[in-house]
Amino acid sequence: MSRLAGKTALITGAARGIGLAFAKAYAAEGANVALTDINGAAARSAADSFDTPQSQVMAVELDVTSQQSIDAAMEKVIETFGSIDILINNAAIFTAAPIAEITRHDYQQVFDINVSGTLFMMQAVSQRMIAAGKGGKIINMASQAGRRGESLVAVYCASKAAVISLTQSAGLNLINHGINVNAIAPGVVDGDHWDGVDAFFARYENKQLGQKKQEVGNAVPFGRMGTAEDLIGMAVFLASDDANYIVGQTYGVDGGNWVC
Ligand SMILES: NC(=O)c1ccc[n+]([C@@H]2O[C@H](COP(=O)([O-])OP(=O)(O)OC[C@H]3O[C@@H](n4cnc5c(N)ncnc54)[C@H](O)[C@@H]3O)[C@@H](O)[C@H]2O)c1
Repeated sequence: MSRLAGKTALITGAARGIGLAFAKAYAAEGANVALTDINGAAARSAADSFDTPQSQVMAVELDVTSQQSIDAAMEKVIETFGSIDILINNAAIFTAAPIAEITRHDYQQVFDINVSGTLFMMQAVSQRMIAAGKGGKIINMASQAGRRGESLVAVYCASKAAVISLTQSAGLNLINHGINVNAIAPGVVDGDHWDGVDAFFARYENKQLGQKKQEVGNAVPFGRMGTAEDLIGMAVFLASDDANYIVGQTYGVDGGNWVC
């Protein structure tokens, strides 16, 4: 299928995990893909692993907390592909701690990447989309964590709640320019990210490494943790013309883990 033929997608934090799976899915749908990450070397080696002759893939080092880095990446991608039609704000980090132990440094870092990074990437890309006059699609990666509190996860939960809120406001603002802004809220997705989450819980809940992961997987109504591939259908749909009438929404793709 070529549902995204002729489009260019820029994905942040795409050197591994969900961002990389989305990049491969978009390339398979015919889009040219700018695979960006703060880890430029990892982005380059991920780009080398593509086998999609119908689309071009470029790797760009991009730190979403730096306006200079954002502006430089915009220039490179537009110089190479001519436009940006789809943005996925996927880069994020996780942290966990009881309220009494949260540090200002951790709070600031999470909000700089997860929230400011999402906002100023939306700004930079939508400015170019507006100038090009062809509309576009922006997909923000939220989380079930943004829909609820979690005892040890206050900062990350708050950052993802902010992503859901930014998606609503940007959705209402940018649809005036034919730009659809929506979000995906995964539940628990296996991979490097969740290995890090598991390590936090091992520390704070005195568990063996791997134990929390096992428990959360068993608790998913579908019967297992998610995979990055489980999210691809929604990511392609929201980037396609089939989603033209959808504005400011956040869709749970989580095996029934959080129903509200
Ligand atoms: N894995 C899950 O269970 C899960 C659940 C809900 C939501 N999410 C969200 O989905 C998205 C992807 O998750 P993942 O599991 O693939 O995460 P991941 O940790 O595997 O990948 C995140 C990527 O972001 C990059 N990154 C970190 N800081 C950056 C910065 N300043 N600028 C640019 N890139 C940066 C990292 O280098 C990494 O490649 C994130 O927004 C995450 O919060 C994940």
